[in-house]
Amino acid sequence: MSYHIQSYQQYQKDCLQAKSDPGQFWDVIARDNFVWRKPWHTTFEFDFSIPEVKWFEGGQLNITENCLDRHLADRALQTAIIFEPNNPQSEAEHINYLDLHQRVCRFANVLKDNGVVKGDRVCIYLPMIPELAIAVLACARIGAIHSVVFAGFSSTALATRIVDCNAKLVVTSDGGFRGDKILDLKTIVDKALEDCAMVEAVLLVRRTGNQVVLRPDRDAWIEPQLESASHDCPAEVMESEDPLFILYTSGSTGQPKGMMHTTGGYMVYSAYTFKNYFQYTDGNVYWCTADIGWITGHSYIVYGPLLNGATTVMFEGVPSYPDFGRFWEIVEKHKVTQFYTAPTAIRALAKQPLSFVNSHDLSSLKVLGTVGEPINEEAWQWYHEHIGGGTTPITDTWWQTETGGIMIANLPGIIAAKPTFATKPMPGIQVVLKSEDSQSLDGPAEGSLCIDFPWPSMARTIWGNHSRFKETYFSAFQGCYFTGDGAIRDDQGNYRITGRVDDVIIVSGHNLGTAPIEDAINEHPEIAESAVVGRHHDIKGQSLCGFVIPKHQNLEVSGLLSGVNVLISDQIGPIAKLDQILIVSGLPKTRSGKIMRRILRKIAAGETDHLGDISTLLNPEVVEEIISQLNQSK
Ligand code: PRX
Repeated sequence: MSYHIQSYQQYQKDCLQAKSDPGQFWDVIARDNFVWRKPWHTTFEFDFSIPEVKWFEGGQLNITENCLDRHLADRALQTAIIFEPNNPQSEAEHINYLDLHQRVCRFANVLKDNGVVKGDRVCIYLPMIPELAIAVLACARIGAIHSVVFAGFSSTALATRIVDCNAKLVVTSDGGFRGDKILDLKTIVDKALEDCAMVEAVLLVRRTGNQVVLRPDRDAWIEPQLESASHDCPAEVMESEDPLFILYTSGSTGQPKGMMHTTGGYMVYSAYTFKNYFQYTDGNVYWCTADIGWITGHSYIVYGPLLNGATTVMFEGVPSYPDFGRFWEIVEKHKVTQFYTAPTAIRALAKQPLSFVNSHDLSSLKVLGTVGEPINEEAWQWYHEHIGGGTTPITDTWWQTETGGIMIANLPGIIAAKPTFATKPMPGIQVVLKSEDSQSLDGPAEGSLCIDFPWPSMARTIWGNHSRFKETYFSAFQGCYFTGDGAIRDDQGNYRITGRVDDVIIVSGHNLGTAPIEDAINEHPEIAESAVVGRHHDIKGQSLCGFVIPKHQNLEVSGLLSGVNVLISDQIGPIAKLDQILIVSGLPKTRSGKIMRRILRKIAAGETDHLGDISTLLNPEVVEEIISQLNQSK
C-alpha cells in the first residue's frame, strides 16, 4: 500500500500537497491502492451551496472486490475476522478471507433469491455476530443499500428507520447474547413491522435458540437458504457515487437523520485512515470494541480493516461480563496489537481494581485509540499508564457519522499526543474555526468547528431530505460544512473538541438528540411539557436530566422517573434513559418561545452564578424556582 504515512515530515508534505493540489493527491491514493472496474474522469466536484459533492465520478467499482476478492491471491487463508463470543467458554471463530468471501457470496445470493436488487434498501438488525458483517458486505456485493440499526434500539425506533428508507427486507436473528442478558430481537422486529407494510421478507439468523414464531408469508430462517446457495456471486458494478449505505444519527428533531454514504469516496477514505491511524501492518490483530450498528463499526470493524487485508476482531459481549477483566483477557488471548474503544468504557474500567488489568499480558499492544466523545485527562492517563504501559501511543480520534472516517487525531508515533486534544487533521481535511459572526479565526482560538473543503467520505445527503441536509450542515456558516461541535485551537495548531453546541447530547459515546427524548417524555399522561439536558457524569461523560411541567398540580415524583424511562425505552431504547427528573412549573423560554437549554444545562451543572442575562427571558421568574427545586432534590 502506498498511502502509509510513516513520518512527521511525510505528514506535513502530504498536508501541503493535499491542500495545494487535492485532485492529484487523492488521484494517486485512489489509483494505487484499490481495484476499479473503470477509472474515473473527474476526481472531485463540489458546490457547498446546493450542497453537492462528488468523488471519482465516472469510476466504477465494487467495494467488496476490494475488501475480499483481491486478497484471495495473497492472503486467502489469513484470518479476516476473529469472532469472540459473549460467553468466554465458547470458542472464538476464525474466518479467513476465503471463507469470508464464500459466506458473503452465499448471503448475497440469498438476498437476490429473496428479490433484492441493486438500489433496494435492506435493514440489518443483528447482534454482534459474524453474520452482521457478512450481511453488510452481501448488500454491498449486489449493490443493495444497507441500513444497519443498532440492536439496542426499540421497536418504535426500528420502525421509524425502516419506514424512512422504505426497506424491502429485514435481516435479524432469534436473539442475541449480551453479558448475562438475552436480547429478544425477533419480538422487537415483529412489533416494529406492524407499522412497516413495505417489508416483504424477514431473514432470520439462528443465534440463541430462542423460541420464535415465524409468519410464513414473510419470515424464514436463513441457514437452509445459505446452504443451498452458490458461493459464487459476481459483484455488481457500481458507480463511484452510487449509495453504499444509510446510517441513522440523531438530530434536533424527533426524526433521525439517515446519513447517506456513497461507494468510491467512502472506500478510499475509510481505508486510508484505517491504515494510518492504526499504523496497521501485516500480521497485526486489530480490535475495535464498537458495535457495527454505529459508524465506528462500519468504517473501522468492517470496511477499513478488510480493505487493508487486516485481521479484525468482532466481540459479541460487554466489558463487564463475566467480569471487568474481559477486554484484557481478549487482548491477551488474541495478541491484539491495536485496541480502539470509547472513553466511557475506559472510565468504567478504570474504576475497577487494577488486578483485572494486571493479571493479563498486554505487551502485544502497539497502538491504543479512543473515539466518540472527549476523553478527560484522568481517563487518558489511566489508559496510557495501565493499558499502554506508559509508552504505547494513544490516538484520540475525532469524527462523526457524517464524516465517514476519522478527521482529526494524532497519527500514533508520528504526531505527538496531547491529552484531551484530538490534535491535528488528516491530510486533505481543511479545518476552520468560525466565530459567532461567521468570521474565520486565525491562530489560537475557540469557535465552531467547520470544514471548508470536501473530503472523499463525507455524507452526500440525508436520505429523502436534502433540504434538511443543507439546513443542518451547510447553512450556519456560508461555504462550510458545520460539524455541530465547538473546538479550541492551541498555538501549535492542535484541536481540542469542547463538545456539541447543538441539541445533541453524548451519553456513553451515544449520540442522542433532545427532541426524540422529549417527545417520548411528553407521551406521559401526567406531563405537559419537558426539556432534557446533559450533565456531567463520571463514567458516561454526560447523563440525562429531564425538567418536566406537570399537567396537574400535586404530581408525585416517586415512580415518575421509572414511568418516563419505560416510555423512553419503548420509543428509543434503554440508552436514552434519564438519570434524574425534576418537576417544575415552567421552563425558561425566549420571547419567541424557544426553550433556553443553555440555562437549564448550567442549573443542572450547579453553575448558577454564571447564568448570564436572564432578564430577556419570557419568564425569568422560573429560573429561581428551578434552582431551589434542584437544591431541595439533592
Ligand atoms: O461531538 C463529537 C463526538 O461525537 C460526535 C459524533 O457522534 P457520532 O456521529 O455518533 O460518531 C461517533 C463516532 C465517530 C461528534 O460530533 N466525538 C466523536 N469523537 C470525539 C468526539 N468528541 C471529542 N473527541 C472525540 N475524539
